[in-house]
Amino acid sequence: MRFTLVGAGAVGALWGLKLFEAGHQVHFVTRKEESQITLGFEHQKPQTFSANQPSLGEDSDCLVVCVKAFQVIDAISAVKSHLHPDTPVVLMHNGMGTANDVLQTLDTNPLVLATTSHGALKISPSVLRHTGLGETRLGGANVSGKQCDFLADVFSHALPSAKWEKDIQTALWRKLAVNCMINPMTALRQCQNGELLSDSLREQLNTLSEEIALVMQAEGLNVASGDVLQHALQVAKATAENHSSMNRDVHFKRRSEIDFITGYLISRAESHDIAVPENRALYQAIKNLELSYDHA
Ligand code: PAF
Repeated sequence: MRFTLVGAGAVGALWGLKLFEAGHQVHFVTRKEESQITLGFEHQKPQTFSANQPSLGEDSDCLVVCVKAFQVIDAISAVKSHLHPDTPVVLMHNGMGTANDVLQTLDTNPLVLATTSHGALKISPSVLRHTGLGETRLGGANVSGKQCDFLADVFSHALPSAKWEKDIQTALWRKLAVNCMINPMTALRQCQNGELLSDSLREQLNTLSEEIALVMQAEGLNVASGDVLQHALQVAKATAENHSSMNRDVHFKRRSEIDFITGYLISRAESHDIAVPENRALYQAIKNLELSYDHA
């Protein structure tokens, strides 16, 4: 297949390289005006890929959007005029809340939402480290997107395991819950994920998980707060040495995905009239930090 990857950050680079190794053609769309980019896994020969070539965008069989949630609409608007109306578009980012705007922007394309727990880290602009094996879930967001289940086989062949979900919202919410707990906590404390396993933080994590579970239940998910807590602790353990993406954003004083992680949780909580004070406090603390960069 011919893939266009929008975004060559850690996740875009991981999928681009894995799809290429599996025999697919890969073209990148990046923010720079470069016509080629060089990427490779650590200790392997790097590969040169075409970049930012509208004709390759037009010929693509699938567009995979791996930019941060707050960049999704701008990125899609920029490629839209070079996109065939039947080409499936896959969104893969932390957080929730972009799908409706994307559906309005694209109106005809099959839309697929994806979440992955693979760990990846750019150790230089062209060198990628695959820091942890994970799994990927995909599922349709519109009628034509729901017919793209073949993509799970294509993705799984390139980087196992990938599964098709009839109800992708459940998988997205499960990941959102983990991100609501790990990301702001590790960002504010500037610690690795594993430090969240400390007994001194258990009460706060417990309160966060109780609030999150209430919102998930109101959204129709069958989940108990104990499961939410256990899942976040499991991920913190499996990625103990990693710095979360929000930890890095705060470290480098970049805009984080808080609006699409805890911000999305809060907006759904408000619509169900559920109080989420502990999550709100984390949201506000990250927003305050972000505001302080503008004045720095
Ligand atoms: O955003 C992240 O960093 C990751 O989604 C996760 C799972 C929290 C691991 O660091």
